[in-house]
Amino acid sequence: MTDLQSLDWINQQARLSLKRLLPRLSAQFAEADPEQWAAFTRRLDAHFPRLFNLLVTLYGAHYDFFYHLENILAIAARSWLARPADLKALDAARESEPDWFHSNAMLGGVCYVDLFANNLNGIREKIPYFKELGLTYLHLMPLFKCPEGNSDGGYAVSSYREVNPALGAMDELRELAAELRREGISLALDFIFNHTSDEHDWAKRALTGDADHQNYYLIFPDRTMPDAYERTLREIFPDEHPGAFTFQPELGKWVWTTFHAFQWDLNYANPALFTAMAEEMLFIANVGVEVLRLDAVAFIWKKMGTSCENLPEAHLIIQAFNALACIAAPAMIFKSEAIVHPDDVVKYIHRDECQISYNPLLMALLWNSLATRKTRLLAQAMSKRLAIHPNTAWVNYVRVHDDIGWTFSDEDAAQLGVKGYDHRQFLNQFYTGRFSGSFARGLPFQENPKAGDMRISGTGASLAGLEKALAEKNELEIEYAIRRIILMHSIILSIGGIPLIYLGDEIGMLNDYGYRDDPAKADDSRWAHRPRANWQKAARRSDGDAVEGRIYQRLQKLIALRKTHPALSGHDTTLLQMANEHAFGYLRRGGFQPSGGGQILVLTNFSEVLQTIFLNRPPFVAATELITGNAVTLTPSVTLQPYQVMWLAP
Ligand code: GLC
Ligand code: GLC
Repeated sequence: MTDLQSLDWINQQARLSLKRLLPRLSAQFAEADPEQWAAFTRRLDAHFPRLFNLLVTLYGAHYDFFYHLENILAIAARSWLARPADLKALDAARESEPDWFHSNAMLGGVCYVDLFANNLNGIREKIPYFKELGLTYLHLMPLFKCPEGNSDGGYAVSSYREVNPALGAMDELRELAAELRREGISLALDFIFNHTSDEHDWAKRALTGDADHQNYYLIFPDRTMPDAYERTLREIFPDEHPGAFTFQPELGKWVWTTFHAFQWDLNYANPALFTAMAEEMLFIANVGVEVLRLDAVAFIWKKMGTSCENLPEAHLIIQAFNALACIAAPAMIFKSEAIVHPDDVVKYIHRDECQISYNPLLMALLWNSLATRKTRLLAQAMSKRLAIHPNTAWVNYVRVHDDIGWTFSDEDAAQLGVKGYDHRQFLNQFYTGRFSGSFARGLPFQENPKAGDMRISGTGASLAGLEKALAEKNELEIEYAIRRIILMHSIILSIGGIPLIYLGDEIGMLNDYGYRDDPAKADDSRWAHRPRANWQKAARRSDGDAVEGRIYQRLQKLIALRKTHPALSGHDTTLLQMANEHAFGYLRRGGFQPSGGGQILVLTNFSEVLQTIFLNRPPFVAATELITGNAVTLTPSVTLQPYQVMWLAP
């Protein structure tokens, strides 16, 4: 592990090198706009020591370190000077209110541009829909230029500066970002920085033999190194290619490809590559992105003899990007996509690294509780793992565009007498519908007989039983499926953090099996849960008798309550210890609000059987249940209907 240097020493070195570099930079940039230059140097003073420390640790041993350092600072300066005025205003606003994302008004949505609305213009036309739902944050799935056919849903980027022409143009994206912002919706985009597509200009140059660009990637002349690395690597997409390397016939060499063969991993050990990616990141920031989703963070640093996941240097790289964003695009926050062991997930979450992070553990354990009707694993994991740094937040979700992996901790499970491996087998059987009595209609993803594992694809509704219940025209099961959908969403809306809805789930979209007819998608079951928006179905959201309306309207109710109750802001959450193993509950306090914000007690029933809950010393006795408006007395016990959710206020 590369230790950061002692703070005094580093601050002194940082000051010295800045003193040397600043006159050179100022000669290039100060004259153009003295006022903006002053704003830049103010932020540089604040964040350079941190940036310097990180870069020295990562790249200090390179003979040309100062050359790279100067380049990086020049990029930051140029990018700041090019940053549009409205974004600079946002920078100032966010610096004075760094806690903005803790608000109980926050609600995220995610969709594919083409599948949801054909193109960027279509997305603009859907702003009224987003507002009706209450979104304040919209993640548009990758929309940059990418290869035709299979591009891993856009996760193979051919240019970070061009929009996929089928979706629109860069100027349209800038306008869309500005319009969303005016409507109170922050745009989130991906920074796919672990790899580029093999059609990126850098990859093309590498293919022609250009050594500088070959060094942007990890390319090996024969199998010696790949074999040595693979001894300790996990296979991510084993269906597509075994191991982590792909032979490139044009080069006669092996390229590191963690994901698909056309996604080439970038070489962050090379400071020139770090510099190039910093420039792309700041370009994306200036388009108007407020939340940058850092894709596949776990994989960005490789070291022989390790799993090449979650290495210490991966954190340093992200922190260095963070410091650069603080200098040149401070309104933008980072969201970490680390779908790994919970001990590793939290290591990315920090004000100086990723301010927000997906919460894959909550996601996986919510599905676990639905399958088992038991909440012990969930309650145990949340009581020890939900609390994070006060300046950071979870992004809580029921499902996203990816598969569901059972990334709970085996050690936690063992404490409850559950064997991780066996339990995952059960969950896979359950969610693929192979387990008799299962309500779920999921599909296996990357089934790996060698490792005996798989992950699960499926929309929220199909996994929660709606697809099966509708096919069987079973009214009771339809109602239960709807309740399960609402139960899952009620928790992401109230447990603390930013709730994120996969758009379509609010009206119960089912799996779409049409992907099997498209050769570019047929091998990837994740497309089953990425259905094209169906606006006829969406229109039924106002019909309280239609399934769509039954889901949408109940969800709407919860969203409206969330937005009016500051007790649901921030993430002051106390898990309740309950004897009833089917119940799950917590007390929320709006710690983020200076004015207090009150309390809400959340109680849920994860089974289709009536449950009685005895609360040991409830925080209050006389309560109003906010969803129904009913008065409830919390002593001696509370009774919950099948899958019922209660939000109780004193
Ligand atoms: C992330 C994305 C996923 C993609 C992978 C490679 O995990 O969410 O969809 O396949 O990274 O970019
Ligand atoms: C990333 C995640 C993994 C996920 C994959 C996309 O590798 O770590 O869990 O399944 O992306 O499918």
